[in-house]
Amino acid sequence: MKIFGRVFFLTLLIVLPGRCLAGDVELAQTPPMGWNSWNCFRTNINDSIIRAQADAMAKNGMREAGYQYIVIDGGWEGYHDANGVFHPDPDKFPDMKGLCDYIHNLGLKVGIHTSPGPTTCAGREASYGHEKMDARTFANWGIDFVKYDWCSADKVYQPEQMQDAYRKMSDDLKATDRPIVFSLCQYGMQDVWKWGRSVGGQMWRTTGDIADNYNSMILHGLNEEGLEQYAGPGHWNDPDMLEVGNGKMTQDEWRTQMSLWGILAAPLFAGNDLTRMNPKVLKILTNPEVIAIDQDAAGIQGHCARQVGPTQIWAKALTDGGMAVGLFNMNNHAMTITAVFKELGLSDRVMARDLWLHKDLGQFDKSFSSVVPAHGSVLIKINKGG
Ligand code: GAL
Repeated sequence: MKIFGRVFFLTLLIVLPGRCLAGDVELAQTPPMGWNSWNCFRTNINDSIIRAQADAMAKNGMREAGYQYIVIDGGWEGYHDANGVFHPDPDKFPDMKGLCDYIHNLGLKVGIHTSPGPTTCAGREASYGHEKMDARTFANWGIDFVKYDWCSADKVYQPEQMQDAYRKMSDDLKATDRPIVFSLCQYGMQDVWKWGRSVGGQMWRTTGDIADNYNSMILHGLNEEGLEQYAGPGHWNDPDMLEVGNGKMTQDEWRTQMSLWGILAAPLFAGNDLTRMNPKVLKILTNPEVIAIDQDAAGIQGHCARQVGPTQIWAKALTDGGMAVGLFNMNNHAMTITAVFKELGLSDRVMARDLWLHKDLGQFDKSFSSVVPAHGSVLIKINKGG
């Protein structure tokens, strides 16, 4: 018995490499959620702006809704000193470690942006030639998330070296022993979804930059069609950040972004000013039923089940055997959209719940129809077994 026990234990150690080792955390088991400075502030960020955003997130219910990372995007960078240590712009970020401590004390995590190139997209200092040291500096500050943005890397790398450039920083981050989510940003070049995971990424942008308008937003989301096989726990397609609350879209359009990103199991990074947000925006960002679809443990990215003219029906299978179904109207007037259960692989008789109205809708036979406003969406959950 004793020998059998020992052999069994040794076998376990061999077949579960790494799983039992301290410090080996499985990151991003559900799509990462947080806030990122770029969409609203561009490079006009500083310590007090970031603290205020973190304060807001900790107070307004977003933290409890699942938002976690406060990501400092481009605009924080200063210079590498003679010893190769990366320093923030001292006028804007006098004490990066202090800022990270502050954010951690609010029960949140911290992200930062840099590039494998010599400069960021805004022409500021980046990580080329300093990767190992920068990874250590980030870990020392207490960084939990690194967005690695290609930017100027074309100047120093050939296209075929792109994967190595990403792998290098990923390895250097892993070597710090701090669990740091690695977010690839290279706008979907070279079918990044096919190799992002193998170079150590937990998420990768599939597109160029989102803009604060409906066309940009909807195209970023719909562009994910066909990429579902590349997403799952620990590795996510990223159609870019939320524009909810940024001022150039309607409430229906904001709800559409949340519905679509939820169906896509996309990372959810708010991109608005959290200190000046009206309650309607907050309600959209924190809708628990939509977030639950996005964060569903199975991590299945939804797919487009049917397209009729400017309308699409998307479906996402859920852990509990149910299904989230999104009806999207790209037209600029209201349309009636009908989801036929057979086409979704469902039984003929199902129970549905509206995830924006927070209302059980009752039983439906064969199909579900709804009038969907211009640029709007209807998001329902179909329960398992009708
Ligand atoms: C872009 C990136 C944006 C933002 C910006 C900062 O390349 O796609 O999300 O990070 O750089 O300069």
